[in-house]
Amino acid sequence: MSALFQPIAADQLFAWVFRELETRDSVFGIPRRNFYWPREDERFATTVFGQRIGTPFGPAAGPHTQMAQNIVAAWLCGARYIELKTVQTLDELDVSKPCIDMEDEGYNVEWSQELRVHESLEEYVRAWVLIHALHRKLGFPGDSPDVVFNLSVGYDLDGIRQPNMQWFLDEVQDAGSHVDGLVEYLARHYADAHGLDIPHRLSDNVTLSTMHGCPPGEIESISTYLMQERGLHTLVKCNPTLLGPDRLRGILHEELGYTDVVVPDAAFGHDLKYEDAVPMLTNLRAVAESCGLEFGVKLSNTLEVENLRQVFDPAEKTMYLSGRPLHAITVNLASKLDSEFDGDLLMSFSAGANCFNSPDLLAGGMQTVTSCSDLLKTGGYLRMLQYVECLDDAIDNAGVATLAEFREASPQTLDDYARCVVQDPQYKKSTFDTAHTKTQRQLENFDCIKPPCVDECPISQKVPKYMRAVRQGNDAKAVEIVREDNPLPCVLGRVCDHLCEQTCVRNHLDEPVAIRDVKRYIADLPAPATARSTEGAGIKVAIIGAGPGGMAAAKELAAAGCHVEVFEQNQRAGGMVGGVVPEYRLPWNIFEKDLQPLEALGVVFHYGKAAGTDFTLADLRNDGFDKILVLVGAQRSKMLGLDNEDSAGVVDALAFLRRARDEQTIDIGKRIGVIGAGDTAMDCARVAKRLSKGDVTLVYRRTVDQMPADREEIRHLLEEGIEVVELCKPQAIRVDDGELRALVCRHMEYRGDRDSSGRKVPHEVSGEDFEIPLDTLILAISQGPVLDFLDGEPIELNEQGYVVADPETFETSLSGVYAGGDVANAGPASIVKAAAAGKAMAAHILGRQAVRRPGAYEVDVADLLRRRSRRQWRTPSPELSLDRRTGFDEVVQTFDDNLVRAEAERCLECDTFCSLCVSVCPNLALQTYEVDPAASGLQQRYQVAVIADLCNECGNCTTFCPTSGRPYRDKPRLFVDREGVESIDTLLASISASAPELPAAGSPTS
Ligand SMILES: Cc1cc2nc3c(=O)[nH]c(=O)nc-3n(C[C@H](O)[C@H](O)[C@H](O)COP(=O)(O)OP(=O)(O)OC[C@H]3O[C@@H](n4cnc5c(N)ncnc54)[C@H](O)[C@@H]3O)c2cc1C
Ligand SMILES: Cc1cc2nc3c(=O)[nH]c(=O)nc-3n(C[C@H](O)[C@H](O)[C@H](O)COP(=O)(O)O)c2cc1C
Ligand code: SF4
Ligand code: SF4
Ligand code: SF4
Repeated sequence: MSALFQPIAADQLFAWVFRELETRDSVFGIPRRNFYWPREDERFATTVFGQRIGTPFGPAAGPHTQMAQNIVAAWLCGARYIELKTVQTLDELDVSKPCIDMEDEGYNVEWSQELRVHESLEEYVRAWVLIHALHRKLGFPGDSPDVVFNLSVGYDLDGIRQPNMQWFLDEVQDAGSHVDGLVEYLARHYADAHGLDIPHRLSDNVTLSTMHGCPPGEIESISTYLMQERGLHTLVKCNPTLLGPDRLRGILHEELGYTDVVVPDAAFGHDLKYEDAVPMLTNLRAVAESCGLEFGVKLSNTLEVENLRQVFDPAEKTMYLSGRPLHAITVNLASKLDSEFDGDLLMSFSAGANCFNSPDLLAGGMQTVTSCSDLLKTGGYLRMLQYVECLDDAIDNAGVATLAEFREASPQTLDDYARCVVQDPQYKKSTFDTAHTKTQRQLENFDCIKPPCVDECPISQKVPKYMRAVRQGNDAKAVEIVREDNPLPCVLGRVCDHLCEQTCVRNHLDEPVAIRDVKRYIADLPAPATARSTEGAGIKVAIIGAGPGGMAAAKELAAAGCHVEVFEQNQRAGGMVGGVVPEYRLPWNIFEKDLQPLEALGVVFHYGKAAGTDFTLADLRNDGFDKILVLVGAQRSKMLGLDNEDSAGVVDALAFLRRARDEQTIDIGKRIGVIGAGDTAMDCARVAKRLSKGDVTLVYRRTVDQMPADREEIRHLLEEGIEVVELCKPQAIRVDDGELRALVCRHMEYRGDRDSSGRKVPHEVSGEDFEIPLDTLILAISQGPVLDFLDGEPIELNEQGYVVADPETFETSLSGVYAGGDVANAGPASIVKAAAAGKAMAAHILGRQAVRRPGAYEVDVADLLRRRSRRQWRTPSPELSLDRRTGFDEVVQTFDDNLVRAEAERCLECDTFCSLCVSVCPNLALQTYEVDPAASGLQQRYQVAVIADLCNECGNCTTFCPTSGRPYRDKPRLFVDREGVESIDTLLASISASAPELPAAGSPTS
């Protein structure tokens, strides 16, 4: 735990709330417009333990219920059932940090309050008092805030009988002295404080949080104690292992595909078993009845798994899984218990709940639905608002008026839902990819707002700007914005490797914005002719290679008035893009739309002219070219190094694809094998399927989830019926009479070890090799450069044989000679990287400086915060139906007018505002503050700072910050616990005033 982590004084807390409400019309950064406004008609109300609550939702016991401000924030966003963070006698825990990893499914290594027992009580009472005060102050309907606090205690009876826990249990039953003391402080900031009617009993119900490994006898004794001696309605929080190893692992690994998650046998060994649980629950129900209390279960706790990721301290051997896979497991457990007890067991649900599934859970009979992982993702507490919205819709759709009627009316049983949930893509591992959401950008103290999609785009396309233009229906503006930075918009609108989408902040909400598909729509619109300037007049440039790199450089230079000649060995332009990438991904007529502007600008193309054969660099110099650009790509297919690779029937990928593109019919037989797992391999397999109409098998030594190819390409490959033989290593090529017969393969397996990048290492399995009979084998391993035309030129090459070029200017060791794209530095990459290299060379030749312009936007922060918390699935691009994918017609189609605007609406305008870290901090330790850019010397109006006292270094903000940084460490750290600080609001005001004195850095918005 951070040594600084501590609650702030009650007086400061109250001052913060009421001053912020008065001056900024918000509380803890949540604008009043985004508060959940309780419904007078009590549409969502329900009853728990005999008390009414305004909604059935709330934060699960965890980081959102640790401190007063957390609980109040949850309540302001619609939570009405608050599961307080577990309190236990050992109250000086040293939790290793970071302790939360919510990149996708959740993991954590913390397990109860980090505050001392007396501090916990104080925090809960403060929250209680504040909620009652705000209910009145905000003018919410009704006399009561309609909220229930559910206590959580652990972990053994001995501990619960210790003096500190006994004191805690006594005080929550009568917290009068605490409440009265706090009201005195409250009165300094809220005039009506003394008139409030705040109940002194904080809670009459409790959840027993059972430690992983708690024996049934102990659970029964504690529960009996809580009911008989403490008079508390009691829930027992069960572990998901109750479902049993076979079913649990079946769901986790086979049905959902979380094959990397290892649940140790020990977890099932030491946890409560189903056969022990049923009699125990039956006994405890009887105890409750005899005490006139309610008894039930809370499903579920987190799942104990091995710590195999690289986030937590490796000394932590175990971590605890939550979120989407836990949902499917726990729903199945709930369904099993529901049948066991004939629908009569009281159940409360917390496992991967979200806005979409909570109506199903309520229809299935859950008394309340609480969340932890979902609220730790971008949007934070505000995500709760959509739970209510979705329930509202579900009630409407059922044609009834209230939650109670909805529960009655719903035809769906828990059993039905349990069967559906394991099929639902929302819960399958492969559906989302959140592993690459952080960019390389350094995080600075100030001015950190920059869209990660732009950071990740090699040509810095102004994505949010063109999204805004499309949203506003201003297509002409969108065309201008895209074409300003993009020399090949039609090509890149279709086949860019779109790494921008991996970092789109929507990945953590639902799915990335379809950045490439929106660009495609824009690129297909009519465009004005490219303007020509005289900036580069008099400069004569020779470009070798008419691939995307060469075309991009040619366009920039010709538009600047240079004389540009391109020398291309083939008979047409485009390099890999024009000659190899299949037509069903990029039709030639589309490619030509990017070529025509170059011709219009006067670029001279010499087709069929190969450097080395038809001319040398020296010839070009003699012909008066001032600059020579080497953009020749990587034209040699690499081989496996097995015998018989030169036999008939074995072909390299580039030759195969080039021929297929030129001829469109080749006899390759009926049994085709492809070796590889990148985009080239996907193209080869899909082209082979179209040509042969036979069986195409792709052989890969790892598993599909590890393939480096674009996910959309993999999906298309599988949809089109191509078989992938995973964990299979080619050993030999069997040839009879010079003819290919089969590929001999060896089985591979994962054994749990990983390489330095965290990737699973496949190992050979000893035993029999096996054969795949083949008519054609296509080798799609990778490519290398062909640079014989540079013989005799003193140009530096790296160890891999690529040309060494400056990463900014792309000039080589030979003055005036530039190299980029697939032929330089790290070798083969992508179209957009080649285009970026071409642009950068042109800029260097023209002596251009990069210009950065600050953005000037009006931001509706409340609206943006709300939009940033709402989930909304991506608009699917129209696609050719499977039965029509027999030839080379384009598979993916362009969005129409309506679809494109719907998709552009999903963009969250990351050029205007960020504060993602603020939204995911459960403790509200990160806060957004405003500065006046004109007066402060900073570029951006919205900045963030850390209230260090409230930060327990959980690490959650690091996961969601799109930069490479750690906001809780890298942002200005403020300390409340010092003389003269009245409230957080005044502290933030002070940093706004002093910011210019601190080192200002960072990148302005573009
Ligand atoms: C099958 C396949 C599919 C791909 N799919 C994608 C994709 O979907 N998205 C993506 O971003 N990237 C994709 N790539 C990668 C991408 O095509 C390349 O990274 C990109 O084309 C590199 O551009 P370049 O200009 O450096 O080289 P190239 O595109 O290779 O162009 C080089 C040009 O130089 C010419 N040339 C070579 N030597 C000479 C010489 N001696 N004299 C004259 N001319 C010469 C070549 O004929 C060629 O026209 C794919 C690659 C392959 C092989
Ligand atoms: C960081 C973290 C801390 C948690 N702390 C507690 C706790 O103190 N007591 C408890 O009973 N459950 C705790 N839980 C479990 C949650 O209450 C919840 O049951 C579980 O995370 C499943 O819900 P979810 O999938 O919505 O996260 C914690 C979970 C997380 C992720
Ligand atoms: S939401 Fe929009 S601006 Fe933000 S990363 Fe995604 S596409 Fe870019
Ligand atoms: S600032 Fe970051 S590390 Fe600190 S509590 Fe908040 S999310 Fe956790
Ligand atoms: S998440 Fe926070 S620290 Fe990171 S860029 Fe956004 S505002 Fe800055």
